[in-house]
Amino acid sequence: MPVIAVIGAQWGDEGKGKIVDMLAEEAKVVVRFSGGDNAGHTVVNPLGRFALQLVPCGIFNPETTCIIGNGVVINPAVLINEIDELNKRGVDTSNLVISDRANLIMPYHILLDGLEDEARGAKAIGTTRKGIGPAFADKVARYGIRAGDLLDKETFLVRLRSVLDHQNLILTRVYEASPLSLDEVYQQYCQYGERLAPHIKDATVMLEEALNREELVLLEGAQGTLLDPDFGTYPYTTSSSPLAGEGCLGAGLGPTEISRILGVFKAYCTRVGTGPMPTELEDETGDLIRERAHEYGTVTGRPRRCGWFDAVAARHSKRVNGFTGTAITRLDILDTFPGLKICVGYKLDGKTIDYFPASVTALDKCQPVYEELPGWQAPTTDIREYQQLPAEAQNYITRLEELISCPANFVCVGPERSQTIQKTAIF
Ligand code: IMP
Repeated sequence: MPVIAVIGAQWGDEGKGKIVDMLAEEAKVVVRFSGGDNAGHTVVNPLGRFALQLVPCGIFNPETTCIIGNGVVINPAVLINEIDELNKRGVDTSNLVISDRANLIMPYHILLDGLEDEARGAKAIGTTRKGIGPAFADKVARYGIRAGDLLDKETFLVRLRSVLDHQNLILTRVYEASPLSLDEVYQQYCQYGERLAPHIKDATVMLEEALNREELVLLEGAQGTLLDPDFGTYPYTTSSSPLAGEGCLGAGLGPTEISRILGVFKAYCTRVGTGPMPTELEDETGDLIRERAHEYGTVTGRPRRCGWFDAVAARHSKRVNGFTGTAITRLDILDTFPGLKICVGYKLDGKTIDYFPASVTALDKCQPVYEELPGWQAPTTDIREYQQLPAEAQNYITRLEELISCPANFVCVGPERSQTIQKTAIF
């Protein structure tokens, strides 16, 4: 059986949760492989509406093992809260597995995230302030503390003491902030460890066993390709890779195991936080999209910047991920527009280009070149068959397929699980 990676193809918030929730009806394993609780994956299913930050969106299928992979940074307090909330609402979390190799978000990471972004002044990234960047920085700097460390309190104390000495130096000498107490952090994290211990395991072995049994495995991406530290709008990016390639590294399987890569795109574009967004609409059309779609951050509540579909960025996204298919979400948001624009090129220094520049200075100067398509001005939310969509809506999807060079497997016309139209088969 195959491994399908579900990848955010724009700046995050594309609706990956909804797609994973739907595919998880068949999947035996779902793995979150990157990011942390900066993600907010919304799922609306017969059990209600949920916004998951760390727990994989397969949790609603009691047959599915849900793994928080080694590539995720975990805030244990947020995770415990999420588990409690799910249990309160009748969702069983006994099949949740936490990779013993996943790094933890510690209290100093959250403090440093705020202090660092404030110190950037006008160049602030506008992070979610969840400690994500500092936690990933510590992972590669080898100052990280991992979930497995919580299973042995004595070794954990030795490790925490040396790491906290270093972090307190940064807090006090660089930022003139107060140091953190070893005892308080230790006691707190020991409590988290006791609570989470039954879930903390070597996830790679479980994954291998599932592959040997030929079970369907989903790799659940977080954030979006244009927030990737290499291929996104660096430095206005997140700090772990949302790409399909990271699906292997952050879950613990080999690249040849992935058989399908599904790029999830909104039918338009949104972005939260600072950084270039060539098709941003700072006008009433942008406001209309925001209000119709309620484009406010799931995690931070910040208004999202809205704009037309950017096919230059979409092609870049396809290129660096190797999408085999796409899911186009939120088509219904465009139901009322008489005309729709798609960005098919950028004007940069008097020339038209068809690639996504690496430099944010260049991207900031890029002016979108638009192609205009007629709107359909009819409701699509009750449509369940692709052929029933208005001809203009089908034309819009066909044009996106041509521009991205990738077939659409799914088209979504609303938040509910049932509001997904399968256009073509994934396999
Ligand atoms: P961080 O990931 O909290 O460090 O934030 C870095 C940038 O990524 C900021 O612009 C955030 O708004 C953005 N970001 C992080 N996670 C998400 C997400 O799940 N959806 C959309 N934007 C995100």
